[in-house]
Formats: sequence, C-alpha cells, structure tokens
Amino acid sequence: MFIKTFDEYQAAYQQSVDDPESFWAGIAQEFQWRKPWKKTLQWNFEEPDIKWFVGGKLNITENCLDRHLAERGDQAAIIWEPNDPHEAGVTLTYRMLHDQVCRFANVLKRNGVVKGDRVCIYMPMVPELAIAVLACARIGAIHSVVFGGFSAQSIADRINDAACKLIITSDGAYRGNKEIPMKNTVDDALIGCPTVKRVIVLTRTRTPVSMLKGRDVWWEQELKQVTADCPAEEMDAEDTLFILYTSGSTGKPKGVVHTTGGYMVYAAYTFQNVFQYKPGQVFFCTADIGWITGHSYIVYGPLACGATSLLFEGVPTYPDAGRFWDIIDKHKVSTLYTAPTAIRSLMGFGLDYVKGHDLSSLEVLGSVGEPINEEAWHWYDDNIGHNRCPIVDTWWQTETGGLMISPIANVTPLKPAFASLPLPGVQPILVDENGKEIEGNGVSGNLCIKFPWPGILRTTYGDHERCRQTYFATYPGLYFTGDGCLRDEDGYYRITGRVDDVLNVSGHRIGTAEVENAINMHTGVVESAVVGYPHDIKGQGIYAFVITDQTAGDHDADLTKRDILATVSRVIGPIAKPDKIQFVSGLPKTRSGKIMRRILRKVAEGDFNNLGDITTLLDPAVVEEIKTGKL
Ligand code: PRX
Repeated sequence: MFIKTFDEYQAAYQQSVDDPESFWAGIAQEFQWRKPWKKTLQWNFEEPDIKWFVGGKLNITENCLDRHLAERGDQAAIIWEPNDPHEAGVTLTYRMLHDQVCRFANVLKRNGVVKGDRVCIYMPMVPELAIAVLACARIGAIHSVVFGGFSAQSIADRINDAACKLIITSDGAYRGNKEIPMKNTVDDALIGCPTVKRVIVLTRTRTPVSMLKGRDVWWEQELKQVTADCPAEEMDAEDTLFILYTSGSTGKPKGVVHTTGGYMVYAAYTFQNVFQYKPGQVFFCTADIGWITGHSYIVYGPLACGATSLLFEGVPTYPDAGRFWDIIDKHKVSTLYTAPTAIRSLMGFGLDYVKGHDLSSLEVLGSVGEPINEEAWHWYDDNIGHNRCPIVDTWWQTETGGLMISPIANVTPLKPAFASLPLPGVQPILVDENGKEIEGNGVSGNLCIKFPWPGILRTTYGDHERCRQTYFATYPGLYFTGDGCLRDEDGYYRITGRVDDVLNVSGHRIGTAEVENAINMHTGVVESAVVGYPHDIKGQGIYAFVITDQTAGDHDADLTKRDILATVSRVIGPIAKPDKIQFVSGLPKTRSGKIMRRILRKVAEGDFNNLGDITTLLDPAVVEEIKTGKL
C-alpha cells in the first residue's frame, strides 16, 4: 500500500481506474476484518446508493488499537500538548489508549448507550476527546462531534437532527489566555433537546458548573465504576461510524454520514501515502477534532496506521506566535499539517518567532482547508521547510472522508499552490454549467468526481433526498464538489474556490444562508445578504449588507453592528461573525426577487467598475446607493 516513486504512483493510479475493485480490495486486506466482505463495491450515483466491502465485518478500534498492541503497545499513540506550555503534557501509548478507550466505552454502556445510538461530543482538544470518539466506535455508537466554537443553538440543532441520547462535554476549555465555558453552553443547548438523557462532564478547568441530579455525571467518577474489559462490537462495513455536520449553500448544516469499512481504509491509505509516514515519526495535525481533518488525520488515519499523533489544545499564537515552532522543536515533529490561514497569520508576526527553534526534525509539510496563495506557500517552504520538505497541498472535503487531490510527499513533483494530481482511486472531471465534460488541459470548470472511492459520504443524516439533491443531482451521474478548478497544461489541478454560496473563512466552511438567517433574527433587521470577499489572512471574510427598520437599535450604527454580531455569535458561534456590515436601504434584486450576489460580491471586493449588466434589476438605483454607502 506504500507508494514510493512516481512510477509506482502512476501504476497504482492506472490500476485504480482499470479495476477499482481489485485495487481497493488489495488495500483493505491489510486491515483486520472479523468477516471478509462478499462484494467489494456496489454503487449508483442516481439514488445514490454506495456500499464498499459489502458484508464485511470489523470494528475500527480493533484496527486502530488492538492490532497494534503486540508490536507497538509501548509506542506513543497520542502525544498531548496542553494550551499552557508550562502544564505537563500527556503521552498515551497504544496500550494506555486501548485501556482508556475500553474503560470509557464501558462508561458509555453503563449510561445506557447501545449500538446505533447517537452520541454528541462537545469538548476541548484534550486526549479525552479522542478517547470519547474511539469509545463510541468501540461499542458501535455513532459519534457526532461538534466543534467547541459553536453556540448552544448550533449544538441543539445538531443534537435534535440526530436525536442524540447522550452528550459528552467538559466543565470548561482553555484556549490561549481565555477560559471558555463548555458545560454552561451545553446546559443552554439542552433546554431544547428532549432526547438527551445523560451528560458526561470531564474536569478540565474546574470552573463551577451546575450538575443536574439524574442527568449529569462526572467523567472521573464514572470511570471508577468500570473495568478495562470491553470487547469491540462487531460492525458491518456499512454501519455508520459518525455524523459530522457541515454547511451547504442552503438551509441548516447537513449531517454528513460516514460508514465504517470504507472510511477506515480510505483515511489510512491516504494518510500513509500522502504524508509518507514512517514508524516512530511524530505527526502533528493542527486541526480541531471537531472538523473532518481532525477526525481523519488526528484520530482515525494515524491510529489505523500505528502512527504517533500529536494533539494540541491551544492556538498558534499563545503564549506567542512561535508556539507551533516550539512544539515542533520540543516533540521532534516530522510532519506539520496545517491551514493556509495559520501560515498567513504567523507570517504576519515575522521571522523572529521562527528563529531559535530547531525545525530540523521536519520532513513533510501539509496544507489543507482552503486555497494556499503562492506567497504563503513560499514562506512555508523557505522558512519552515527550509526548502527541503515537500509541501502537500491536500484538497478534500468533509464529504470525501479523506484526501482526494494531493501531491504524495517526495513522489509527486510540486507546483506552488496546486493540489496537483488525483490520488489513486479518485477520478476527477471538469464540467461546464450544463454538465458537459471539459476535456484536455489548460482548462477550468466545475470539479466533479465520476467514480466512488471508499471514503465518499453515504447520505446526509435523516434526509437522503437532500444528499441526492446537493451532490448528485446537479450533474447526473457525477458527485459535484461545489468547487471550481483549473487543470493546467501539465494536467495539474488547482482548486479556485467554491462556486456555490458556501464561504471558506479561515478554512472553516460557512453557508451564506446560515449567516443571513442569524442576522435576520436580530430585532429590526428586515433583510440581509451575505457574500465573501478576499481577506489577507482568513482567505475569505464575511461581508453583510443589512436592511433595518427604525427599531433596529438606538440609531447608533456602530452599536447596532455590535448587537448584530452578538446575535450571530449566539445563533451560530463567533466563527460566523461578519467582518464587515453595511447598512443599505435596498438590495439588488431581479424582477423575480432573486438577490444578485454577483453585484454584491463586486461591491464587497471594492471592484465598482465591473459590476456587469445591471439592467435586469428591479431597481438599478439601489446599486448606486450601495456603492457609495459607508461601512
Ligand atoms: O472549497 C474547498 C476547500 O474546503 C472545502 C471543504 O471544506 P470542509 O468540508 O470544511 O473540509 C475542509 C478540510 C478538508 C472544499 O470544498 N478546500 C479544502 N482543501 C483545499 C480547499 N481549497 C483549496 N485547496 C485545498 N487544499
């Protein structure tokens, strides 16, 4: 399964296209199955109905933990670096992690969780988060991890959508110099969540929290009641492993569903190859486990490959902007996998923070989540990799489960800011608006994938039709990614960004409709329209055009803006707060009432001279006002 040369990559790619089933069967065989599968793949993209390793039985934690015990039981599985560099960290060997996962799995069972139940997890980046995730998988419970930056309302929406029975949280979280309440937020969420019968609370900050009798229990107390004996539940390859909510262009976030066998094989295969991980190395993915990157490349991918995964609780700028480099030096990290936003932000602090740290342990650098601009790419290459570490610019999505288009470290020739070539098993195709294939090189279009890979989403939780509509209906017979893409003369792919109404702010995916709904909940707001605009650090910033009536506030525009931000924070979370708000008296609409976002995007970019045709607008005068409007 280990590709070592470009020739091997090309051969593997060819095989994966000529005979995908035998290609993936060969890789899947390297894992531990309780029962072999009967059919490798069954699929159609119409319904869609996608099944990999049909009839196969396994438990992903046996693959991530048990099977490593004999050979590397005493090797570090997880190295935890706390928010405060002076606090002692934690290293969990595979044996220790196995023990703790089994114990916590027994805690879940004791609290009534059975196979198939949904469990929400809302926790800081502590080892217990990974333990909670794996404990769910151990007993066949479906985890739904909610990123710690989301609001009570967002937690409630996700819990209710999946009818979660239990939630795991902590009293509070440390993030930089802030102490953030977690349990309080969960308490607010649970006011509207009738399905939740139990809350398990980990002690982290020991902030005072309310503990409801009969509902809330302490993690540490519960652990005292259980043993470490917890045989893994036998799961079907297509049993759901987890749900992860992600934003789309319309409506509330969708619960992307990943299943067990295909996801495991895909996360592990891509981890092993793209990063060229070698035994004993320390892999540092800076994402939060609340996002897909953390699921696949902090927890499942690395552990399935017997790797050492570094889990960092804090932020890149605390106690100062040298923290990543300090961690790399301290733990002799070999691979750093981070987002362009972090690189651009650290660039801004200057090289003094990099100097003085020994980065010689680094062998591979990774980038994920958003397009990386050439300036950031070169800064990363020159100052962090010292021009000796390949940068793998990995393009993928929550829905794809694992990396899709990416260089393979030290194998694929690199081009700055290009995700480069599809990995084995991935068959990209560019199409025009009408779904017609755009062939050849030196072209651009909408990026689709024409054949299933093992990590593809299977459905959106509780609403299969929404899955079909969103991903498989735009271009019949194809999975539509929502991204625009160019393929250059050499056949290299460069992702140019979303072509739908999804924003990518600091590598976080946010739907414009979601932000608009939140703004519209603010008193006195009549209507709003949200677009993205280029932002030096965040990649994209959020620009909101807002119409208010007289009751919006006390006519102090600044204060009203701050009130609106508070509403958005409360409804979605601080990550969705607009960077700019402009009050307007009208929005540019077509005669049929559709907002012309194209015009708003141009205004947000400050590009007033290229607004295009505005004659089809109901009231073209609106545009003049918006152009001259003050922020
Ligand atoms: O627009 C693409 C962008 O992030 C979107 C997926 O976001 P999410 O599901 O949150 O997953 C992020 C982590 C995998 C994509 O549709 N994106 C992701 N990686 C890249 C990227 N854009 C350009 N280059 C990338 N390497």
